[in-house]
Amino acid sequence: AVPSQIHHFHFSNCLMNASGVSCERKEELAALDDSAAGTFITKTATLEAREGNPQPRVETFALGSINSSGLPNQGLPYYLQALADFQAAKPDKTYFLSVTELEEEKIYKILEEVEASDFKGLVELNLSCPNVIGKPQIAYDFETTDRILKRVFSFFTKSLGVKLPPFFDPSHFDQMADILNAYPLAYVNCINSVGNGLVIHDEQVVIKPKQGFGGIGGETIKETALANVHAFYQRLRPEIAIIGTGGVCDGRDVFEHILCGASMVGVGTTLYEEGEGCFASLTEELEAIMKEKGYQSIEDFRGKLKYM
Ligand code: DHB
Repeated sequence: AVPSQIHHFHFSNCLMNASGVSCERKEELAALDDSAAGTFITKTATLEAREGNPQPRVETFALGSINSSGLPNQGLPYYLQALADFQAAKPDKTYFLSVTELEEEKIYKILEEVEASDFKGLVELNLSCPNVIGKPQIAYDFETTDRILKRVFSFFTKSLGVKLPPFFDPSHFDQMADILNAYPLAYVNCINSVGNGLVIHDEQVVIKPKQGFGGIGGETIKETALANVHAFYQRLRPEIAIIGTGGVCDGRDVFEHILCGASMVGVGTTLYEEGEGCFASLTEELEAIMKEKGYQSIEDFRGKLKYM
């Protein structure tokens, strides 16, 4: 295993699931807990359970996946209870809870409930779900993002990270980093799916919601993910850690995310396609690359991307 840490939280391995894949139900979380991953993150929870969008809503294609799930989840109380049970069984392990809401006022409400709970791991505020009909990805609105973080940090004292959508312009990296740097964030997770792509098979869309538009993940988004990880690594205060997510198919992809500055690496589409066994093979492949290069820990190469 390749250990890592975010602030004072230690992880036995730097790999974890990307929120949304294999993490809605307790049985799925248990499988992740027993895998070679260093920890897991829950499906993004809302205050109440949601069914999500009509099926089929997730499909894979040659170079990745498309989903328009629509935040199906069991509701916050379910995840708080499940996490309390996992925590009781493994007191030294740190878990991640992902949350969001569809109305701004409810974002404060759900974080107030998490604040009041016994949960003692890391909390990820998902500012980037692309799939709820009529609701934009929050983090594409810089003013709203700033206002939300300002109010959240007026009451929230647990360790908080944010899940960001991909950005594609240096001025957007600059603006978002300026906002994030003003708050005591534990980390940022780059990136969520590339929103509102379209996959076509036999003249037809491949998922039912939103006339086929959905978030793209997998191999085809790796370069976008690496650019976002490194752009934020260059701009954020060093106290704000980065979780790299997007396009991880083999050990080299994990290595490159860390080289770009990631402390933990999330796996979505590959986990969806291969199951939890992917964490053992990705870890072995990463270890082989590190051995060949003479690196003993991720701090030997994290963020040390070479420029020409
Ligand atoms: C969903 C998809 C996402 O990419 C996300 O961040 C949150 C939710 C979804 O459709 O369920």
